[in-house]
Amino acid sequence: MRDLYNILILTGAGISAESGLDTFRGPGGLWAGHRVEDICTPEALERNRALVLDFYDARRAALAQVVPNPAHQALARLEAEWSGNLLIVTQNVDDLHERAGTRKIIHMHGELLSALCEACGRRMCWHGDMADEPPCGTCEAEAAIRPDIVFFGEIPYQMDAIERALAKADLFVSIGTSGAVYPAAGFVQTARHYGAETLELNLEPSAGSYYFEQSRIGPASRLVPEWVDEVLSSNRLS
Ligand code: APR
Repeated sequence: MRDLYNILILTGAGISAESGLDTFRGPGGLWAGHRVEDICTPEALERNRALVLDFYDARRAALAQVVPNPAHQALARLEAEWSGNLLIVTQNVDDLHERAGTRKIIHMHGELLSALCEACGRRMCWHGDMADEPPCGTCEAEAAIRPDIVFFGEIPYQMDAIERALAKADLFVSIGTSGAVYPAAGFVQTARHYGAETLELNLEPSAGSYYFEQSRIGPASRLVPEWVDEVLSSNRLS
């Protein structure tokens, strides 16, 4: 086993499921009642702005009702106590990692608590609703504020930084993601290509489960704290 210094963690909706936030796929998932193309595309925003703004207003309201679970807390503890280098890349648009105490994080699919002005390009903190179409607080453009969410067909945030982290990772861990959406679904192969060990922690084998050297199946609230304890008690820091 090689020494361990750089750990890169990819998280998805499954890590927030036990906090009470819906995942996207599967029965009862967020997409179950909607077609993706009706909500999460630039064309949908163009065609039916009210529906898209309502959808994300409802998710922002749901986020205010939930708290981080033991999986988020364990990752925050790992960041605080691990003397190597840890980066979390999340596909989640919630802020539960940060509320648990995580500081080094990339939200590659955007954030619910952020707004993007289509007129001036500014991103700004956002806690209220968007359905009433308030003007941009910076450039004052009307009807230009949209959720700061990366829609299908748009480029995820900070891909350069993510590529660099994948290239130097000693260990890549994927938690609570179905592996259905690229580019995140391909990170395991990139990390392996550069020589990282790979581990999946998920409720069921993901679409790309085959690519992971090790797969542990179960709820994140149990698997993640167990794995964090293992890392912190190991002597593998280089
Ligand atoms: N613990 C661990 N894994 C869980 C749990 C749990 N308690 N509950 C569910 N899961 C797993 C499911 O088995 C599934 O494999 O989490 C995964 C969630 O998959 P998706 O709903 O597809 O969510 P995600 O992979 O994050 O979706 C990726 O798709 O629509 C887009 O932009 C959206 O970021 C999202 C992206």
